Amino acid sequence: MQSELSPDPDAATLLHVGIIMDGNGRWATRRGLSRLRGHEAGVEAIRRVVEAAPDQGVGTLTLYAFSSDNWRRPRAEVSALMTLLRFYLANEIDALVRNGVRLTVIGRRDRLPDGIANAIARAEAATADGTTLHLRIAIDYSAREAILNAAVRAANAGPLSRETFADLITGETGLRDVDLIIRTSGEKRLSDFLLWEGAYAELHFTERMWPEFDTDDLADALASFHRRERRFGGLTSIAPEVVPTL
Ligand code: IPE
Ligand code: IPE
Ligand code: MG
Repeated sequence: MQSELSPDPDAATLLHVGIIMDGNGRWATRRGLSRLRGHEAGVEAIRRVVEAAPDQGVGTLTLYAFSSDNWRRPRAEVSALMTLLRFYLANEIDALVRNGVRLTVIGRRDRLPDGIANAIARAEAATADGTTLHLRIAIDYSAREAILNAAVRAANAGPLSRETFADLITGETGLRDVDLIIRTSGEKRLSDFLLWEGAYAELHFTERMWPEFDTDDLADALASFHRRERRFGGLTSIAPEVVPTL
């Protein structure tokens, strides 16, 4: 097992996996429970997956926790979700540090309740030295808005390549494109998640509801990913020609 003391020498081969954690509400409703119980069970699934990810070859994990369109939900559900996220961020710090996880949060912060913005800042600072896994949690996130904001900033920048424009979108230097996007609950759409970074992502859809997603499901998704042939527009059997600058 890797730890923050022994980062993988083959870090370049570690995958970036994105997960659209969907189905909390249906999972709960089918059991006669409130939707909030589903979200609480969803937090347990997050813990399982974050702990298992490094041993399954994942170096970066982006979890979709709350979309910018989720503000459309009933006020009580939004507020319960925010409380849950705040507890997660506050209570998880020790475990994240112990496991060498570096946490960053993507998405807008200016519309979040104060408690959450503070909890995010504290969790990011406390986990900043983690090298085993980069965990990115998307809260009040919209991929289209991230691209739009980058375009506005690009207007004042010099000439940009796809790579440098990507840095404006992600807020990081050289973040690896997402290799695999997993969506639970049987829905087959992206719902405004990682639209730029996922340009060549493999997609894995499973009927499992997020609260029941476990380490075997993650392993299944990765096994299916490793069986795919990724061509990036080329032909696998033939060495790539020199690509002209676009
Ligand atoms: C995913 O579960 C969690 C969030 C979007 C916050 P849902 O709450 O979307 O669950 P379903 O899709 O209604 O079952
Ligand atoms: C996407 O799920 C957002 C998250 C998982 C946080 P939704 O349940 O909000 O997506 P739609 O509305 O079914 O597309
Ligand atoms: Mg849903």
